[in-house]
Amino acid sequence: MASCCNPQFLNPRHSLHLLALVLTVTWHFSLTESAGKIQLKGEVGGNVTFRCPVVKQQTIKFFYLQRGPHIFVNGFYESKKVQPWENTRLGHDKTTVHMDSLNISHSGDYLCLIMYSDSHKTETVIQLSVTANYSKPEATVSCRDRFSCLVTCTSHGGYPGTKMMWNVNGSLDWKVVNNSDMSDPVTMMFNSSSTAHFNCSNGEREFSCHVGNVTSNMFPICTPQKKDPNNHFVIIAAATCSILVFFSIVVWLWRKCKTGQKGGEATDVRQECGVNGWR
Ligand SMILES: *[C@@H]1O[C@H](CO)[C@@H](O)[C@H](O)[C@H]1NC(C)=O
Ligand SMILES: *[C@@H]1O[C@H](CO)[C@@H](O)[C@H](O)[C@H]1NC(C)=O
Ligand SMILES: *[C@@H]1O[C@H](CO)[C@@H](O)[C@H](O)[C@H]1NC(C)=O
Ligand SMILES: *[C@@H]1O[C@H](CO)[C@@H](O)[C@H](O)[C@H]1NC(C)=O
Ligand SMILES: *[C@@H]1O[C@H](CO)[C@@H](O)[C@H](O)[C@H]1NC(C)=O
Repeated sequence: MASCCNPQFLNPRHSLHLLALVLTVTWHFSLTESAGKIQLKGEVGGNVTFRCPVVKQQTIKFFYLQRGPHIFVNGFYESKKVQPWENTRLGHDKTTVHMDSLNISHSGDYLCLIMYSDSHKTETVIQLSVTANYSKPEATVSCRDRFSCLVTCTSHGGYPGTKMMWNVNGSLDWKVVNNSDMSDPVTMMFNSSSTAHFNCSNGEREFSCHVGNVTSNMFPICTPQKKDPNNHFVIIAAATCSILVFFSIVVWLWRKCKTGQKGGEATDVRQECGVNGWR
């Protein structure tokens, strides 16, 4: 640690290089005395605060928050700041670090290194896990015929990868055809989808899908075929036809009655046409 006392260390041009040296040394030195990890949770796009535990009421010679053994995140050396990660800010108490604009790649172990004026050192591991909420699953239904439907539920932008699950009311006449959770190589976030086949012989029922704790709406499946929108027209046309046919018969009978009277067999026809036959 002699290098720490070298005034050159305070030269910003050298500080990063020397810092790396100090950090590496410290890492090997105190791995053995590291206590349990502190867990920290954040969401993509959100922020977290690393609170590095301070064990002594003493001047702090240096404080580093680093990612793994070599990557400096934020901190100071004898109150001099070193180039920090852009999305971090040192708290007023000088041993907390605020990190915002979280993305999945920020997940992992961080190390708090503190050296006090009496050269006592402490280090604490903080494990950050960044998660992302899946979008509410959406369903698309395609029916081959009245008895066979394929339903696909999809959801995107979640982390960690989770399988799409089904919740179906009623009969067991359905099965999952496939299931996939694919990760975007850049954002590392997952799209999760699943397709299920429904046998509709047993009538209508309802389903929903869920991924993690995000659940879709309830959707109906195997609903009876929609009424033909032309049905109305057909009914009206049929009614009109029957009325026309009825009146044609009436007219035909009336004419028959009339011709019958002229032809002299009036009595017979009158009986046929009723007492008050059409005149
Ligand atoms: C940090 O996150 C909290 C909620 O977790 C929010 O209320 C706050 O506005 C955020 N701060 C910044 C600077 O984004
Ligand atoms: C799942 O199965 C459906 C129907 O067979 C198909 O359209 C879809 O592409 C499949 N999805 C995957 C991820 O394999
Ligand atoms: C995930 O879904 C989004 C939105 O539908 C799409 O833009 C993106 O390409 C998908 N990513 C993968 C890895 O399938
Ligand atoms: C995650 O944030 C870092 C900055 O902290 C940035 O360099 C990186 O590009 C971001 N990754 C994504 C996928 O946005
Ligand atoms: C659907 O179920 C009925 C009996 O409930 C069965 O007879 C029929 O073969 C099934 N169809 C398919 C496509 O599985």
